Amino acid sequence: MVQQPVETALAAETDFLPLEGVDHLEFHVGNAKQAAYFYQSAFGMKRTAYRGLETGTRDRASYLLEQNRIRFVITAPLGGDSDIAERVRRHGDGVRDIALTVADAAAALRETVRRGAKVARDLETIEDEHGRVRLASIAAYGDVVHTFVERKDYRGPFLPGFTATPDEDPASRPTGLAYVDHVVGNVSLGEMDNWVRFYQDVMGFHVYQHFDDKDISTEYSALMSKVMAGGHDRIKFPINEPAEGQRKSQIEEYLEYNRGPGVQHIALGTGDIIETVSRLRGQGVEFLAAPDSYYEALPERVGSIREPLDRIRELGILVDRDDEGYLLQIFTKPVGDRPTLFFEIIQRRGSRSFGKGNFKALFEAIEREQRRRGNL
Ligand code: FE2
Repeated sequence: MVQQPVETALAAETDFLPLEGVDHLEFHVGNAKQAAYFYQSAFGMKRTAYRGLETGTRDRASYLLEQNRIRFVITAPLGGDSDIAERVRRHGDGVRDIALTVADAAAALRETVRRGAKVARDLETIEDEHGRVRLASIAAYGDVVHTFVERKDYRGPFLPGFTATPDEDPASRPTGLAYVDHVVGNVSLGEMDNWVRFYQDVMGFHVYQHFDDKDISTEYSALMSKVMAGGHDRIKFPINEPAEGQRKSQIEEYLEYNRGPGVQHIALGTGDIIETVSRLRGQGVEFLAAPDSYYEALPERVGSIREPLDRIRELGILVDRDDEGYLLQIFTKPVGDRPTLFFEIIQRRGSRSFGKGNFKALFEAIEREQRRRGNL
């Protein structure tokens, strides 16, 4: 499967928004203490800091969870009439903020607003005894925001307002998840190119790869996707929109239950997917299953790989090859009650693509679940 990255010449020349990487992902949920426990005990995140009533924050509780380079902040409202409560009521638990590390938050805000960004949170300097952080946020699709985090003058555990929690975390069972590989957004029919332009024009990203409904279609549904990349391609945000199909597509199901656009999945990278997925399964994470026919065709489709095929098949891991190498990936079922947010676990062996050869098997697996939910 040959997939050449599509580059626009312009993006390489002008870096008006130097981004160091994904700083953290903040989730807004109904009950942060219990949601955090799920990510600790099932995904192996370690609780490292907290803010809430005990630390002087009156309107919300947040748990900082870390594993290698991954940082999640799980936040719940403490009252029923806040913006957070309203978003949780509308969308259910989900991703509110894909925060990006920058060297200069004021410049990031100024340059993106000049290019059409909508301010979600004005530039703010917050300080404590560990130093100073500057934050500013712009609106992205749905109710998702990008916060620019300038932390070069800060030595504390995370952000001012957070207090480090004890070193031991008895709830955490590490799984080897190491970094955020990509974060995917679902937007409404006809909106993909508007958001592609947003990431190009406002944030200086470029189209890294794209897929149309011929690449991603099954008997029932289709979708289109463009992968936007920025920060020297360290940051990848694919954007999906539904395409016309016979039945309701998985993207439409998402949009219905999320009440609009939002983050569809977060892909987390590992250096040993067999070990990681074994642990995740052992800790109760549920994954989509590929049919036997997928594994029967696999050796011929991808050639020889380093991982034992019987383990790959046992664990339900998918494999795809392109001209640079191969990748291994697997998708969880939705992690909440609504069929909205899910996770991908990915290991890259040279490949920089997104598993196009697996789309059909994957979407058929999603549709089997959709049918069980009465939504196909
Ligand atoms: Fe993905």
